[in-house]
Amino acid sequence: MMSSSTSRNSQTRMPKRTHSVKEALESSEGTRVTILGWVATKSSVGGIKFATIRDGTGYIQVACKKNNVSDRAFEEFERAGKESAIAVSGSVREDKRAPGGKEISVSDFVILAPSEKWPITRSAVRGSSSFLYDKRHLTIRGRKASSVMRIRAEIVYAAFDYFVSNGFTLISAPTIVQNAVEGGSTLFDVNYFNRKAYLSQSAQLYEEAAIAAFGKVFIYQPAFRAEKSKTSKHLTEFWMIEAEQAFAGQEENMRLQEELVHAMAERVIKNRSEDLRALGRSFKIPEIPFPRITYDEVREISVKSGIAFEWGEDIPTEAERLISKRFDVPFFITGYPLSARSFYHMTEETNDKVTKSADLIAPEGYGEIATGGQRIHDYDTLLRRIEKQELPQESFDWYLELRKYGMPEHSGFGIGVERTTRWFCGLKHIRAASLFPRTISRLKP
Ligand code: 4AD
Ligand code: MG
Repeated sequence: MMSSSTSRNSQTRMPKRTHSVKEALESSEGTRVTILGWVATKSSVGGIKFATIRDGTGYIQVACKKNNVSDRAFEEFERAGKESAIAVSGSVREDKRAPGGKEISVSDFVILAPSEKWPITRSAVRGSSSFLYDKRHLTIRGRKASSVMRIRAEIVYAAFDYFVSNGFTLISAPTIVQNAVEGGSTLFDVNYFNRKAYLSQSAQLYEEAAIAAFGKVFIYQPAFRAEKSKTSKHLTEFWMIEAEQAFAGQEENMRLQEELVHAMAERVIKNRSEDLRALGRSFKIPEIPFPRITYDEVREISVKSGIAFEWGEDIPTEAERLISKRFDVPFFITGYPLSARSFYHMTEETNDKVTKSADLIAPEGYGEIATGGQRIHDYDTLLRRIEKQELPQESFDWYLELRKYGMPEHSGFGIGVERTTRWFCGLKHIRAASLFPRTISRLKP
């Protein structure tokens, strides 16, 4: 029998956990288990009291009958409010009606940390559009929010597995930097001991230095963009997985992205199908190779559909959404004009206005999830580009200097973790793909 205490928290002797919820659901009829977790729901039918307990590995129904437990345990079971941390002991019973097909007949129950009346109520949620995110520190316990985060984690594990087993070395890079990688308009300033510094938009330039040491590298770290508009696909802080390879051009780069996304999808479907189900999301592993469409074709379709933009401009969000909705598999948009791209992009041999780069676009309207391309590896070409775009040469001197010492053809890409999670999970807004999102209007919690 477990012992309990009437004090709030610290005095409670915590019973020893024998099973996680997942293990309990996998064990056979009659197995004695002690589970530590939280009360997700409570109900009663006739004289039997029910609760659903979750512990991060799953949900299990427990049933408490007055005659089967001590008065103390029954009283604690009745008193345990939603989100109380509890210990429950009992035996596993097959029950077709229970979610997961198993139920625990309670023999003992202890409140380890009580919960006040749970503030996330329907009327509170209805009363304020930002309530769920104001209370994000609590709402992340919800079934959908936690399913999204488990899928997100699986996407990242898949990337690590994929890169490690394909000879890529994990590197790190500073997030306090001196220069813009992706243009100056979305830079966050940092006062760095009275010098101007910025939060990094991408680790790409550091990866380019690292490939000469390691050949193939990848990185997983936050990126920062002072995005001034409210959209369903922009965060101000997000996580990026980036990879860079020496002796590889844009074709190899696109193949790498296809394989990576395929590996992510395969792993999520293998390990997180229950979470996809909780989200009501049907999601298939996309077949390789992914379709390709050119910038010019996108422009033509957009113009015909009434979304006009000049050749050379970036593809407007509405046009990207329109094209994305026409596909049910991810696809590349190739042949971006140099004028819509960052300074480091290599151009086609036959056309110096078109870059060797592509965006990887998720289907169903989710839009861009990755951008990649081949970089300029020639010193003079890069110097001319930096001059032409009037970039501050002194902060790029080290990046330029790399081109003096054996810099071969190379390419790479960055894929947004929250963008990918949003697509996999079928989320309306990207903030749901971040545990504690940062947007133009949100800095708390
Ligand atoms: O397309 P971006 O700006 O490309 C780069 O930063 C390259 N230097 C990457 C590289 O080649 N190593 O950003 C890459 C990806 C986007 O495709 C998108 O998925 C994500 O990062 N991303 C954002 N995600 C959320 N909120 C934002 N504001 C994002 N900006 C970019
Ligand atoms: Mg991009």
